[in-house]
Amino acid sequence: TTDTPGAPALAAFPRVRPRRGRVTPAVRRMMRETRIDPAQLTLPLFVREGIDEPVDIASLPGQQQHTIDSLRRIAVRAAEAGVGGINLFGIPAHLDAVGSQADAEDGIVQRALRALVPEVGDALVIQSDLCLDEFTDHGHCGVLDADGTVDNDATLERYGAMALAQARAGSRMLAPSGMMDGQIGYLRDVLDANGFQDVLLLAYSAKYASGFYGPFREAVDSQLRGDRRTYQQDPANGREGVREASLDVAEGADIVMVKPAASFLDVLYRVAQTSPVPVWAYQVSGEYAAIEAAAANGWLQRERVIDEAVTGIFRAGADGLLTYWAIELAERLRTGD
Ligand code: PBG
Repeated sequence: TTDTPGAPALAAFPRVRPRRGRVTPAVRRMMRETRIDPAQLTLPLFVREGIDEPVDIASLPGQQQHTIDSLRRIAVRAAEAGVGGINLFGIPAHLDAVGSQADAEDGIVQRALRALVPEVGDALVIQSDLCLDEFTDHGHCGVLDADGTVDNDATLERYGAMALAQARAGSRMLAPSGMMDGQIGYLRDVLDANGFQDVLLLAYSAKYASGFYGPFREAVDSQLRGDRRTYQQDPANGREGVREASLDVAEGADIVMVKPAASFLDVLYRVAQTSPVPVWAYQVSGEYAAIEAAAANGWLQRERVIDEAVTGIFRAGADGLLTYWAIELAERLRTGD
């Protein structure tokens, strides 16, 4: 009993008790709304030309620049863990203004693809990044015109050549990440005209000019001075991200992606509400590094916050996720801890 005037009799109130759904671990497990399958996860991997041993990436603890051999080993591990796919980034030994190594038949990505496809091509969806920034000496995602801005349409031609080189080397899914206008439609036409109708396009549709790509730039030895704000999106623009995704759908994207994930969950949610094709997110290098660094200092509980961050991305509507934690997550999902 209480002396508070107007207080309802507690025996009859509250009628609605959401806590019932949280009473035991078994009830919580049954009531859970968001479930993740390892097949929804893709592991980004770096392969570097001209090294004999894998090289640790300091800003991405636990991640490495791989030799073709160590790449094959980690791909096998990913397959064994049940991860859905791997997404390949190349670091060539030779850079130039047009990124010649990007479409060279013996370019590092093409060589890596030829090594991976026979080994894990049935177990994993082998994806390759399609962008020039790792291959150019200026570090931009395209070729430059006379005043140093990225030339959209000249870049498309380079992307077309890259697409053919990667498809010929066996890539199952090409991932154009350079944010050139019309890139999806252009690449679809080039692929179809050359007999690659069954090669998928994973469109980096809403890709923002983000500070969270910092560690990735170390991972690929980026040469970039300046920024990518004339082609990647302004982080302030949500509606524009939805527009970019719908343009890519119209151009024939098989999957559209929002990137980064954590700071753009609203864009992910909005795209997921309306997209007729699957929507993926990329939990980028800085999202990974921030959690790893805080955990290494004992400031966050590592596994707990990784799971929370990843669950939030799926709860927002992602159908798939690129994450550097893909193997660890897949293994944890399997053992159920
Ligand atoms: C560009 C590309 C970038 C990333 C993926 N593709 C870097 C950039 O746009 O500057 C970033 C991925 C990450 O940070 O994990 N090819």
